[in-house]
Amino acid sequence: MKIGIDKASFFTPPTYVDMVELAEARDVDPNKYLIGIGQEKMGIADKAYDVVAMAANAAQQILSDEDKEEIDMVLFATETGVDFSKAGATWLHDLLGIQPYARSIELKQACYSATAGIQLAMGHIALHPESKVLVLASDIAKYGVNTGGEPTQGAGAVAMLLSANPNILALETESASYTADIDDFWRPTYSDYAYVDGKYSNEAYLNTLMATWNHYKEKQKAELSDFETLLFHVPYTKMGRKALQALEDELDEETSARFNEYYEAAIVYNNIVGNIYTGSLYLSLISLLEQAENLKAGARIGMFSYGSGAVGEFFVGELQEDYQDYLMRETHEELLDHRTKLSISEYEEILSNPVEIDEEGNATIDVQEVSPQNFVFVGVDQHRRQYDKASNVKQ
Ligand code: COA
Repeated sequence: MKIGIDKASFFTPPTYVDMVELAEARDVDPNKYLIGIGQEKMGIADKAYDVVAMAANAAQQILSDEDKEEIDMVLFATETGVDFSKAGATWLHDLLGIQPYARSIELKQACYSATAGIQLAMGHIALHPESKVLVLASDIAKYGVNTGGEPTQGAGAVAMLLSANPNILALETESASYTADIDDFWRPTYSDYAYVDGKYSNEAYLNTLMATWNHYKEKQKAELSDFETLLFHVPYTKMGRKALQALEDELDEETSARFNEYYEAAIVYNNIVGNIYTGSLYLSLISLLEQAENLKAGARIGMFSYGSGAVGEFFVGELQEDYQDYLMRETHEELLDHRTKLSISEYEEILSNPVEIDEEGNATIDVQEVSPQNFVFVGVDQHRRQYDKASNVKQ
């Protein structure tokens, strides 16, 4: 039985920062951000778009009424959680109208946890072939104003429906995972911002890529030329180029040219959304499928997932017949084309003003410039987070 991704979509908030303007404000050569980091724009989430609202918006684009009856597990991957105890998946289960007899949990392991969700979904569907599992990855990558990580921020969510006989990508059961206890990027419970050793995190990413690929290669007697192309975790688009470079010695000329050409299609969305941590690899998958020409059913795609701290996994998917019919290219391009550019001072204002809760445990969020169909975080009522459709919020 084939198991894999039946439907997939993403969401990013309606506001972004232009990287040339950010470079000018920071007195940096714009080419450092455009070429050296490889980012043109970065999505910025104002208060109305927390990780739950963004995930709900990604998911509502793909779910039919039938799916909502058949989903029996909701797995929410994030490293921007809004509660230490309650899983974001419980709000999402309700907002999306999924039938009540479902398991809903939140998963954490930096940028890797959506891949853990996919692997858990695969095992669950193998035991219960009639089940569908909703895997959501949603994050706000926030390093802070004037920090080393500032140009590698972003915001967004990816929603994937996993099922038997999937329409888009069947996932193979064999993969290679790897764990090493390291401190390359982490966010202690007392801190609003992540701590990161940037150069070390690049190094750890590449070490983990080689560890997982070498283990997979040995176990499966595989070669890189077995794959039509590779996809990577993309914290910023230059990182995937570094990954391709690290594998270069194993690539013949033709395979190298093919992988590098597909990589351009695989970063069209990441380049203008920025880092979305858990969803970054899957945003790159959606970008590849929607933007590449000549990608045919039957193609095997090797994927590398990385989460600092660190866990990585190399796994493989096979494109299904007529997969193009199940993509949402127009919806995604429209979402990206209709965003509003923030000035650098507006962006700094958003970053430096977190939600403030009053003494009674209440907060009201000013909801602006949203599509009426979007879910938004509307405030806190006696310490209880509230979400609604923007059309129900008085402007
Ligand atoms: N034109 C073109 N390229 C330029 C440039 C210019 N004017 N100026 C600098 N560059 C290049 C550098 O040569 C470098 O390229 P390289 O990585 O291929 O060597 C790149 O731009 C980045 O410059 P660098 O000085 O190394 O950047 P930095 O010290 O600001 O750090 C990160 C970059 C990514 C480490 C930092 O943004 C960060 O910590 N981000 C968060 C962590 C992260 O995303 N890690 C990823 C793994 S999970």
